[in-house]
Amino acid sequence: MDISLLRSIRAQFPILSSQIHGRELVYLDNAATTQKPLTVIESIDSYYRGCNANIHRGTYLLAAKATEMYENVRKQVQGFIGARKSEEVVFTRGTTESINLVAASFAKRFFSGNDEVICTGMEHHSNIVPWQLAGATMRVIPFNDSGVLDLDAYQDLFNKNTRIVAICHVSNTLGTVNPIAEMIAIAHQHGVPVLIDGAQAVAHTKVDVSALDCDFYCFSGHKMYGPMGVGVMYGREQLLNQIPPYQGGGEMIENVTFEHTTYNALPYKFEAGTPSVGDVVGLGKAVEFIQSIGIDTIAKHENHLLETATRGLNAIPDAKIFGTADGKAAVLSFLIGSAHPYDVGTLLDQLGIAVRTGHHCTQPVMDRYGIPGTVRASFAVYNTEEDVAAFLSALERVLPMLG
Ligand code: ALA
Repeated sequence: MDISLLRSIRAQFPILSSQIHGRELVYLDNAATTQKPLTVIESIDSYYRGCNANIHRGTYLLAAKATEMYENVRKQVQGFIGARKSEEVVFTRGTTESINLVAASFAKRFFSGNDEVICTGMEHHSNIVPWQLAGATMRVIPFNDSGVLDLDAYQDLFNKNTRIVAICHVSNTLGTVNPIAEMIAIAHQHGVPVLIDGAQAVAHTKVDVSALDCDFYCFSGHKMYGPMGVGVMYGREQLLNQIPPYQGGGEMIENVTFEHTTYNALPYKFEAGTPSVGDVVGLGKAVEFIQSIGIDTIAKHENHLLETATRGLNAIPDAKIFGTADGKAAVLSFLIGSAHPYDVGTLLDQLGIAVRTGHHCTQPVMDRYGIPGTVRASFAVYNTEEDVAAFLSALERVLPMLG
């Protein structure tokens, strides 16, 4: 990326100039959450200073303004993900709530006993547990040592009990970008709908839900430079009309009596209670931020950093990378010899490097490799070659301490 563009991007993130243990922060935990640009931070501040009111309810100007801001972001998100209608965009608290919503509501409508959900072996717990809570048996697509799914095995998992396929677009631990367009087409040949967990994808790769032809697509604001506490559940209109509401309360109803309640139209049927309007406003600014740079520019830059970091890591004796699929996203999971990932992470922190350690909410991935966890460095648009160099030289410095 052009150095002046990168500088101007970094200047928008106040946290990147902070000091950690007396050193400049090198933030490499972007798969857990990205940092926030000033436009996002200031939009939330200015919403609460000048616009705060409950939406869809008041007759006064402030309420109308807040409602307009909220609904404008819905249209922005519709354009960002290529949804056919803004009614197909439901605001939630994040990917986890989005998947819980679909699992609970879809199960109520379509589960009948002996219900199976096909997922990959690299799912985040939030795309496993909600389905188990809904009563499903998980049927798992295996992956090879590089982190590539076995699509022949996938084909063999379909049977008369298959209700839905629920798979991640990009693995948060291995970085694998799954061939979801092909997988969606296969599921549809079997007459089975598909939910995509897009938490690790939307900020790094172009997503077009209409072109993909997926039935549900879930993601979080905070992993795409937006605030925590807001996310999206995209659903195909026809399916959203078929499944019942997830939570009951204000806004999601049309008419309530003690005997019988009827529900509001889409998307409000799935938005019970007062939403986090300020965070939705911030999400709109995050979408603008990504669009102002362009997703292709972001992906190219992150891939360059990933390649540099991978080369450097491969040169370290005893370093082993987990997830080496072609075209993977900028997520680098690794171990160094028998060193515990937690020790590596703690030592790196002392040198100002923030990485994640542990199982990354993907315990089945750890079981697949027979390891307790990994160290994970993950890159975002504001990371630099200097960040990668600092990360690699910090690793060299901590190596002698790892025993
Ligand atoms: N799902 C987030 C991660 O991968 C929290 O770190």
